[in-house]
Amino acid sequence: MARIASFKGLGCLVTGASAGIGRDMALQLAAEGARLVLSARREDRLRELAEACRGLGAQAAYAIPEDLADPGAPARLAEMAENHLGHVDVLINNAGFGKAGLFHKAPRERLLQMIQVNITASVDLAHRLLPGMLDRNMGAVLNVASMAAYQPAPYTSVYGATKAFLLEWSGGLHQEYKESGVIISALCPGVTDTEFFDVAGWGNISGFINRRMPSARVATVGLDALRRGKMEAMPGFQNRVAIFAQRFLPRTWVATMSRRLMGGRPYPTRER
Ligand SMILES: NC(=O)c1ccc[n+]([C@@H]2O[C@H](COP(=O)([O-])OP(=O)(O)OC[C@H]3O[C@@H](n4cnc5c(N)ncnc54)[C@H](OP(=O)(O)O)[C@@H]3O)[C@@H](O)[C@H]2O)c1
Repeated sequence: MARIASFKGLGCLVTGASAGIGRDMALQLAAEGARLVLSARREDRLRELAEACRGLGAQAAYAIPEDLADPGAPARLAEMAENHLGHVDVLINNAGFGKAGLFHKAPRERLLQMIQVNITASVDLAHRLLPGMLDRNMGAVLNVASMAAYQPAPYTSVYGATKAFLLEWSGGLHQEYKESGVIISALCPGVTDTEFFDVAGWGNISGFINRRMPSARVATVGLDALRRGKMEAMPGFQNRVAIFAQRFLPRTWVATMSRRLMGGRPYPTRER
């Protein structure tokens, strides 16, 4: 089974590196001596992070700003990353965002951008970079999905569906390439302490977002999944128990519980 023994010297492309889980993954990879390309939209943050990564021991760290909602961005980013790193050994598809509230109230453009960033850009980057990994018989792709991937996610239904895509797609790839030397994993975090909920506009809609795991811990679980060759990884024992237990319940019950957990006050008071 494919595993990453050490990230030292490996060329790693991290998307969504300007904040949260991606930033922590970049810092942890840097501390292991990886060579990094860091991408997101906020260039100032990427530059500051690249400097911090070099200070921590990264053999190289480059900031490459791109907006992954632009359909041309993955091609540019893959090419730039290969130019800077020689080749990309590890792709971390982490960039993503959600939108809280009723489906029909969300701006259509925002939902379509979400599908572009969370799904299309991840598939595009992997399709461009995987062949090189296969030629070298070594590499890894980590797709950051979510606990939301395992059941319907009322009031953030498109987001949940993008994460279900990433989880199922990753599992398919993991099996396709498990003899190839390339590991493909999905990381499925629960509620994590990042900018995610502010960006999604969750506000005080639901109490379930108040118990947050530190993003550094989530990042460690993600990188460990690649070290251990795991098909999927979920940070937090309670999260794993909850997802395991729901397998034994009817799907409609699980969906109803999910609505209550997400703060299911009756329509139409839920306006966001
Ligand atoms: N936080 C949670 O509870 C949680 C739980 C499960 C899964 N996740 C997943 O974890 C991943 C990381 O999220 P996070 O929690 O660390 O949230 P975050 O702090 O909001 O970070 C999101 C990252 O994605 C980048 N990004 C967003 N839109 C982008 C775009 N159009 N183009 C390029 N980059 C973009 C952001 O950078 P810029 O704004 O600078 O572009 C930022 O670096 C996401 O895929 C998210 O769905 C989070």
